[in-house]
Amino acid sequence: MNEKPTFPTQGLESAEFDPTNHSANRTMGEVIAARFSRRGFLQGSLAVSAIAATVGPAALLSAPRAEAQEGGSVFSFPEVTAGVDADHHVAEGYDAQVLIRWGDPVVSDAPEFDPNNQTAAAQAGQFGYNNDYVGYIPLDGSDEHGLLVVNHEYTNPHLMFPGLVQVVDGAAVQGDLSEEQVNIEIAAHGGSIIEIEKVDGVWRRVADSQYNRRITGTTETLVTGPAAGHDRLKTSADATGTKVLGTLNNCAGGVTPWGTYLMAEENFHGYFSGELPADHAESGNYARLGAPGGWYQWHNFHDRFDVSKEPNEMNRFGYIVEVDPMDPNSVPKKRTAMGRFKHEGAESIVAPSGQVVLYSGDDERFDYVYKFVTAGTYNAEDRAANMDLLDEGTLYVARFDEDGSMEWMPLVHGEGPLTAENGFESQADIVIETRRAADLLGATKMDRPEDIQPNATNGKVYVMLTNNSRRTEEDVNAANPRAANAFGHIIEIAETDGDFAATSGTWEILLKCGDPSIAEVGATFSTDTTENGWFGMPDNAAVDSDGRLWVSTDGNNPTDTGRTDGLWAVDTEGAARGTSRLFYRVPVGAEMCGPVFTDDGESLFLAIQHPGDGGEDWEGHARPSYYEDPSTRWPDFRDDMPVRPAVVVVTKQGGGKIAV
Ligand code: FEO
Ligand code: CA
Ligand code: CA
Repeated sequence: MNEKPTFPTQGLESAEFDPTNHSANRTMGEVIAARFSRRGFLQGSLAVSAIAATVGPAALLSAPRAEAQEGGSVFSFPEVTAGVDADHHVAEGYDAQVLIRWGDPVVSDAPEFDPNNQTAAAQAGQFGYNNDYVGYIPLDGSDEHGLLVVNHEYTNPHLMFPGLVQVVDGAAVQGDLSEEQVNIEIAAHGGSIIEIEKVDGVWRRVADSQYNRRITGTTETLVTGPAAGHDRLKTSADATGTKVLGTLNNCAGGVTPWGTYLMAEENFHGYFSGELPADHAESGNYARLGAPGGWYQWHNFHDRFDVSKEPNEMNRFGYIVEVDPMDPNSVPKKRTAMGRFKHEGAESIVAPSGQVVLYSGDDERFDYVYKFVTAGTYNAEDRAANMDLLDEGTLYVARFDEDGSMEWMPLVHGEGPLTAENGFESQADIVIETRRAADLLGATKMDRPEDIQPNATNGKVYVMLTNNSRRTEEDVNAANPRAANAFGHIIEIAETDGDFAATSGTWEILLKCGDPSIAEVGATFSTDTTENGWFGMPDNAAVDSDGRLWVSTDGNNPTDTGRTDGLWAVDTEGAARGTSRLFYRVPVGAEMCGPVFTDDGESLFLAIQHPGDGGEDWEGHARPSYYEDPSTRWPDFRDDMPVRPAVVVVTKQGGGKIAV
């Protein structure tokens, strides 16, 4: 929630960029910039009237709850105390082990990390920066031996490079990056595939595994589906419109039922700079994406990131990328049938028909919730038969109605307004400009859709909506009921007849987030939730093998919530519904990403993203945090090592399920 970052990429992940959805499907209303910080509440500077105490369909649809089993929370672990310091903290009785950090070798011939002499070539074989999504793919069905797949979303050069930040007249200023530093950044993006095994109860990396692999911002990928080979994807370097160098801003993701790794390209617009020629055909397309973002200096050395020189390059990003981790030489595929927008993730589930359903949020204020339903069906007996399932199917966008019902509206060429008269010549145009197509269908403008997690155990789907301070009283709707929604909420969807492929369903709000002790916030955590148990800004979610929901957050800090981000366990059933409990918290400045459990429930993998970022000390006082003077040196706590994003694995001391 840093309104004015000191460095260009500081606070990038939790920042709220200017919304670009100016479609007329709902009146935007006057934009207000009220900042509902916790401190603001405590100081009485709050514009109370700007918060809607709306009672939405949640209440109207909650009657069946009376029939749900009564009882307490399904979680019993000792709760972590919420707060902020330099270290991470896990519940008593558990171990949290750092499994891999930025710079650790991934491929067997990569050098050890030397932060003072880093090169792009070294980085291309080492663990990348800002780990986000984490997936576990068992080898031979094992919960103790498998492949860890990890996204590297973005880079924080002010925390990565010595000497880049200078203090001038008391102010810390980031300098220009060299070509080598830019190439290190590009190599630190993408993903990592790492073989891991649990030996005598302790996880370790298999250093010489044939599966170990880095995917970076220059790895050759193949475009598949409706936009493959389209003129709008052709560049001076690729006349085929199918071969793209790299995948960028891989935020959350997914693992398919057939064991492939999905990387969601989110804020891809940020890597591009320059200006399109006047009246260029892509002007409207790029404006709807807030593009080019101009967050990085890559265009100084690579023309493809300058839209004045390569106006089509950006049409080659913003997709779900599928990787076969079992073949280290496989070419990652950009599955354009699933649409092009700021994809947060791509969690999947098999519908009763055998069709595969993948949910994806478009993370921007006032953008939409999507799902993709494959045309073909999942074949559990023949892995190879599933490898191109994601190229054919129907992409839907959600409309959440005021009465608690919802509709999934198909984005299909020739149907409704999605015709040549509106600039859609084919399905390729629809997937390239997914947002504009969804605007025309009247989709519901949401409060920054992040991870969307289906739960096979209870048949529900959980939508993380992280926040939206720009929503006004005029803009509220039942599914986004709070103006100036600083702390976000979680929607629970029930698809019709429990069929994840259904085109309609019902919904209710599981939680409105924020401090429940401040009435004006309007948070709806159960009264059993302790002062440690509430959170703001839900971002990622996981469901464990017992069907229980875990939520991780992005944006909690000393100023706004008096706590770091972390992982909270949330009851969804019975009388305990809406009770939340803190299990793990990150070091100062970090965001909590990637929660995933092994199927036996005994191992939990967590990604600690951008530790030491954010420009605050533990009490919330502004302070620049950069390479030479970071707010924490987690996880090494060595003066000769920078703060490093890392993946942590949590196990229970003495063994057994994480939470019983
Ligand atoms: Fe990259 Fe929407 O978080
Ligand atoms: Ca986030
Ligand atoms: Ca996220």
